[in-house]
Amino acid sequence: MTITRAACVGGGVIGAGWVARLALNGIDVSIFDPDPEAKRKVGEVMKGARRAYRRMATNGLPREGRITYAKSIAEAVEGADLIQESVPERLDLKHKVLAEIDAHAQRDAIIGSSTSGIKPTDMQSAMKRPQRLVVAHPFNPVYLLPLVEIVGGEKTKKKHVERARELYASIGMKPVVIRKEIEAFVGDRLLEAMWREALWLIKDGICTVEELDDIMRYSFGLRWAQMGMFQVYRIAGGEAGMRHFMAQFGPCLSWPWTKLMDVPEFNDELVDLIATQSDAQSGQWSIRELEKIRDDNLVAMMEALARGDGGKGWGAGELHKDYVKQLGKAAKGSKAARKRKAESPANTLEPKSGKG
Ligand SMILES: NC(=O)c1ccc[n+]([C@@H]2O[C@H](COP(=O)([O-])OP(=O)(O)OC[C@H]3O[C@@H](n4cnc5c(N)ncnc54)[C@H](O)[C@@H]3O)[C@@H](O)[C@H]2O)c1
Repeated sequence: MTITRAACVGGGVIGAGWVARLALNGIDVSIFDPDPEAKRKVGEVMKGARRAYRRMATNGLPREGRITYAKSIAEAVEGADLIQESVPERLDLKHKVLAEIDAHAQRDAIIGSSTSGIKPTDMQSAMKRPQRLVVAHPFNPVYLLPLVEIVGGEKTKKKHVERARELYASIGMKPVVIRKEIEAFVGDRLLEAMWREALWLIKDGICTVEELDDIMRYSFGLRWAQMGMFQVYRIAGGEAGMRHFMAQFGPCLSWPWTKLMDVPEFNDELVDLIATQSDAQSGQWSIRELEKIRDDNLVAMMEALARGDGGKGWGAGELHKDYVKQLGKAAKGSKAARKRKAESPANTLEPKSGKG
């Protein structure tokens, strides 16, 4: 199952990342975003994404999909079989925007919301055809990180969850269907726990933001890119494996190691402390420069993982290998289509249309 035409409602950090993934898969995308700066911002993200894809798509890339800017949601969603909503995280706004998408989308279109934590059931109330709404929660940068959490609400039909899974997989993603809907799903539940703990560690002066980041990236950060928490801990249990690990470290959970359920007061003092330390850590790079470094690192890591397990590919690397092949196959298809078009007598008289 493939996407023939997509719409992105909201073209900020995440919306633009979706536009990039879709367009670089050769899919035409229409965007609606009221921000007068949206075109420039999407253009910046496209520049970075094209650079990353040129580097990683060693078998070639399909002809880029056309990117157009619509004047309304109705115009953007017309004819789209996948509509991705990525507007700011406010329930009232999600209701308003989803109701408008719902009113104008074609009957069998899948509507995916990028929300980081709102339950789909809570977003379905303003929709007439809520059965095709799923949460499709991605990770930044959407054009490189393959995971998308798919969550259905009370009114979502199973067949639409299945269709969503197929559509997102068709653009090189790894959809994981979450079994029960809860706020913040799975990825952000884990990240939120780490983020809470990190804020305490900085606030209490245990470490700086730079030291905390080093502690992550020189140790378990490296482990987590290639094996998740449970596979890593299985090995940590030694030859006795998971049972031994649980027996050894389980009791520590009741020791006062974390402040997990307490929230530090989010006042100006805390924001200043974090922001100042963050400037000292990373102020020498612009956000665009940091994005470039991040993208190069991510591509290099996925390429390394693609060579894992004796060349079969491991984890995200196994998927990466297939994705590069898929893009290469689509590149051949685009080339053949262009050749056919050029050779057709009807087209020899007309100039070729440019792509966005
Ligand atoms: N930033 C992340 O890391 C991240 C990761 C995963 C999911 N998300 C989720 O993605 C969604 C968007 O987040 P973001 O970080 O891209 O925010 P953002 O502020 O960068 O972008 C939001 C965009 O929506 C536009 N917008 C506002 N009202 C609109 C309307 N009525 N119609 C169309 N567009 C409108 C804004 O102009 C802006 O460009 C949120 O639900 C967020 O929780 C964010």
